Amino acid sequence: MKFRKKILCIGAGYVGAPSNVMIAYKCPDYKVTVVDINAQRIAAWNSDHLPVYEPGLEELVLQTRGRNLFFSTDIEKQIAENDIIFVCVNTPTKTFGAGAGMAADLQYWEKTARQILENSKSPKIVIEKSTLPIKTALAMERILSSGKGDITFDVLSNPEFMAEGTAINDLENPDRVLIGSHETESGVAARAQLVEIYSRWVSPEKIITSNIWSAELSKLVANAFLAQRVSSINSISALCEKADADISEVARAVGTDTRIGAKFLKAGIGFGGSCFKKDILNLVYLCHSYGLPEVAAYWESVVKINEYQQERFIANVLRSMFNTLAGKKICLLGFSFKADTADTRESPAINITRMLLAEHAEVIITDPKALGNAAIDLANDKGKISFIEDPYQAAAGCHALAMMTDWDLYRKLDYRKIYKSMVKPAFIFDGRNIIDQQKCFEIGFNVFPIGKPALTHF
Ligand code: NAD
Ligand code: UGA
Repeated sequence: MKFRKKILCIGAGYVGAPSNVMIAYKCPDYKVTVVDINAQRIAAWNSDHLPVYEPGLEELVLQTRGRNLFFSTDIEKQIAENDIIFVCVNTPTKTFGAGAGMAADLQYWEKTARQILENSKSPKIVIEKSTLPIKTALAMERILSSGKGDITFDVLSNPEFMAEGTAINDLENPDRVLIGSHETESGVAARAQLVEIYSRWVSPEKIITSNIWSAELSKLVANAFLAQRVSSINSISALCEKADADISEVARAVGTDTRIGAKFLKAGIGFGGSCFKKDILNLVYLCHSYGLPEVAAYWESVVKINEYQQERFIANVLRSMFNTLAGKKICLLGFSFKADTADTRESPAINITRMLLAEHAEVIITDPKALGNAAIDLANDKGKISFIEDPYQAAAGCHALAMMTDWDLYRKLDYRKIYKSMVKPAFIFDGRNIIDQQKCFEIGFNVFPIGKPALTHF
């Protein structure tokens, strides 16, 4: 079959694969190839066990794979053959050298840029989809224009705003698609090609164009604003616990103001995920680099409140359970950083497990999808940890339950049955405020919500 366009995605991770699966699904006349250096990951994308769990994703892969969607490890050949290249490689926080612990590690990004230069025999549109520091496109352009040949490259910024767990819906019905380009003749022409792809399913008013630097920065700022809302509500949850107010009532009263909005005001154990912390720290680093220490300190406080919320949670567990957790069994309900994903990157449950182990508690972890990743995360931690998929078996014989993830499944558990199987007095620390707290109290539990008065039998 002759395809109208050939699109390549470099990086078959949480963003690269789902976003290009959606393009393949919406544009059957385009050939979409997704490549990665990780052969195991590519093999999994070609198998019955996809490496990423995302509601609705498998159905789309089954409809498109082998038709106009292909997964491959042959990066060099694919670069040569494709005209439009999305770069979706990881950009983690740097762990060494200047900016360690804050700046973005751009080594994977730069390797990709050089690989594109070396293997290109025809003009290409190169699209940044990874989240990157402002002005990365300039570095990309400098690398791409350092070759001896006369091949032209147009660099665009098209950051991705999907969230895990809702990726398919977010990709199919985005609030907006952002495309940054240069206002040159070739920049505008490249942008038009990308607009044409998204126009297949996104209405024109939702496709926003801007200059490249604005597009790069908007992605960091969007994540910083979202995380800031979570830290804002979590900081107020601490005050509610001291002053007998109820954080859900406060969030509702505040969020009904249309200028503020109701979303992202759920108090909990703090935000996790691979991006919020990484992207805010990247923003903080950029502000320092541009000589703006006050702005840097403002955004850094969002991360500090997030850490404080987790420390506060454990301090509360310790205090409520008579100031000793040694030898006690604590069951963590959920380990992924949010519901509907197996992803545990930066999950608050990781820190919370470590703090419990430091108190010599025994930790029993249950999760419907994330136990494999949890075992990898905690492989080097010393102490008593077990992984049990069935929540009833996991809770049996425990002194306390601690809700880590807002899986719908945990709202519907038979807490009466669980209570009967636990050591008394039994405790629930509802780190996500998702259970029927009053009902659990009536069953016999001592219930400790976030940002609300505790319900105890003492
Ligand atoms: P990921 O680690 O799941 O995937 C990145 C993939 O790139 C890996 O499979 C890795 O093997 C591959 N890779 C690295 N170097 C390569 C190279 N030289 N050639 C080919 N493949 C290479 O990461 P992710 O979660 O998909 O995130 C990717 C980027 O997207 C990051 O910048 C992130 O900030 C951004 N982002 C992530 C999300 C999300 O929900 N996870 C959402 C929006 C934006
Ligand atoms: C987030 C953004 O929402 C996406 O727009 C962005 O594309 C993505 O980061 C990225 O750049 O990687 P994601 O991290 O997948 O998406 O998930 P979110 O729904 O944003 O949740 C992040 C964390 O905040 C989770 O741990 C969640 O439980 C927590 N959260 C969220 C709260 O504690 N309260 C809330 O009200 C909302």
